[in-house]
Amino acid sequence: MITAKDKGDRLTREEILSTLVLLLVAGNETTKNLIGNGLRALIDNPSQMRQLRENPSLIESAIEELLRFDSPVQLDRRIALEDVEIGGKRIKKGQSVLMLIGAANRDPDEFAEPDTLDLTRGKQSHISFGRGIHHCLGAPLARLESQIAFTKLLERFPALEFVQPPVNKDHIVLRGLESFPVRVQRVGIPGDV
Ligand code: HEM
Repeated sequence: MITAKDKGDRLTREEILSTLVLLLVAGNETTKNLIGNGLRALIDNPSQMRQLRENPSLIESAIEELLRFDSPVQLDRRIALEDVEIGGKRIKKGQSVLMLIGAANRDPDEFAEPDTLDLTRGKQSHISFGRGIHHCLGAPLARLESQIAFTKLLERFPALEFVQPPVNKDHIVLRGLESFPVRVQRVGIPGDV
């Protein structure tokens, strides 16, 4: 960012600082929620968790499904640059539109049995990272981080179970867990929980 140049223009100190804050916020809570929501989905669906344990090469497909199934960002917003019609609704230039990412990711016209967690769905059309020119800058990093996190969690802990029901955060845009106590058992140490 310090060396970035665009037609002779440079980023000011304030622009660099605000971009760093954006990266920290946009890249922290979201990935954390993917790991929390994803782990909850796996514990809720033991046969899927078993399938991933038995076949770790499923991890890329699994992360896409966890992103779709319980999307860390539920809402996004756009402002119409011109009058448009979407799904029979007229939207005037300048009007704001809220997009329900979580609902789109469970659209039955797009996903067979959308309420079923299926880690083998493979390549997906979910919109958990948004679409278009504002598509999430950190998507490759988030994918990598969560692939590593889930691979290591399953490798290290042969048993994972809820201690008590998870509690969701009270937030309309970011979907994540406020508390999520999990009992784990470590590899090679039976009874050590
Ligand atoms: C699972 C993790 C993440 C999810 C679900 C997520 C989701 C999103 C969504 C929905 C958007 C809006 C896209 C749009 O309006 O079309 C977005 C934008 C953005 N994300 Fe992420 N994100 C994640 C991780 C990250 C990480 C790790 C970083 C950075 C290290 C990051 C940085 C950004 C930035 C800078 C934008 C704004 C892009 C722009 O407006 O051009 N995100 N993200």
